[in-house]
Amino acid sequence: MNLESAKSFKNKTVLITGATGPLGVAFSGMFASMGAKLILTDIDIKKGEALVSKINKDSETTAKFVEMNLEKEEERSKGCKLITESVESLDVLINNAALTGDSEVEDYVALFSDQSDLSFARALTVNLLAPFSIVRNLLPLLEKSSTASIINIASIYGLVGSVPTLYGKSGLRTPAAYAASKGGLIQLTRYLATSLAPKIRVNAIAPGGIERNQDAEFIEAYANRTPLGRMATEQDICGSVRWLASSESSYVTGQVIAVDGGWTAW
Ligand SMILES: NC(=O)c1ccc[n+]([C@@H]2O[C@H](COP(=O)([O-])OP(=O)(O)OC[C@H]3O[C@@H](n4cnc5c(N)ncnc54)[C@H](O)[C@@H]3O)[C@@H](O)[C@H]2O)c1
Repeated sequence: MNLESAKSFKNKTVLITGATGPLGVAFSGMFASMGAKLILTDIDIKKGEALVSKINKDSETTAKFVEMNLEKEEERSKGCKLITESVESLDVLINNAALTGDSEVEDYVALFSDQSDLSFARALTVNLLAPFSIVRNLLPLLEKSSTASIINIASIYGLVGSVPTLYGKSGLRTPAAYAASKGGLIQLTRYLATSLAPKIRVNAIAPGGIERNQDAEFIEAYANRTPLGRMATEQDICGSVRWLASSESSYVTGQVIAVDGGWTAW
């Protein structure tokens, strides 16, 4: 297979959860530009409908939005049933949705002593249980593809602990549940890779921190701690997702790829 056809996603169906967040939007745009048929899911229906209408207007492919609150079992199974009825097979599943630092969950991004059992359980549900549940529900569709690839979006904080000094004197840091759920997602990746082989490949990507609207002090401290000297951009993460989704990585499964500017290499 030549490089061009390996990179083309025409005739491929790609499902992205958490599609309306900045990374989901970047992944959606990338796969739309490569001709993939898209199924985008999120809890945010307004942003989801806007995203699919933009893709359907600006690109030659089609996108469909499926509203799903991943915290709710009935919504996960209803959404997966709808997806199963609307496509013949699924080639790429990107488990990207998560409760992150931007999710405005009470007692989540807080001092360790203030992080609640409820926020911990909610994060485990969205970040870890939902990928398990979606893969299980969509297994028949994935099995119909001859090139099925699942990509779980984990985090460096699923690999290493957070650095307290980065967060200044506030005492705030990445929530324990975020770290535990992403570590769990990495191990779920290995479990699924060995369980679903040889038909379906399963890998994880562990991105480093992406520069958005953090304060200048944080950005500088983060950059100084990073071998490549800067925070990530959404585009930095796209290349490895494309590679894992394509046949260029056809002998790769059960791996976690840190796309982190060298953060975990010290
Ligand atoms: N931004 C970073 O620095 C960074 C670093 C490492 C890993 N990641 C990971 O990348 C992925 C995407 O992150 P992002 O930066 O775009 O984050 P984000 O918080 O902006 O996006 C997360 C998406 O998940 C959706 N979501 C949240 N709860 C949901 C629910 N109950 N049901 C359905 N959808 C729900 C949100 O609506 C949002 O679209 C996440 O898995 C995140 O953990 C991000």
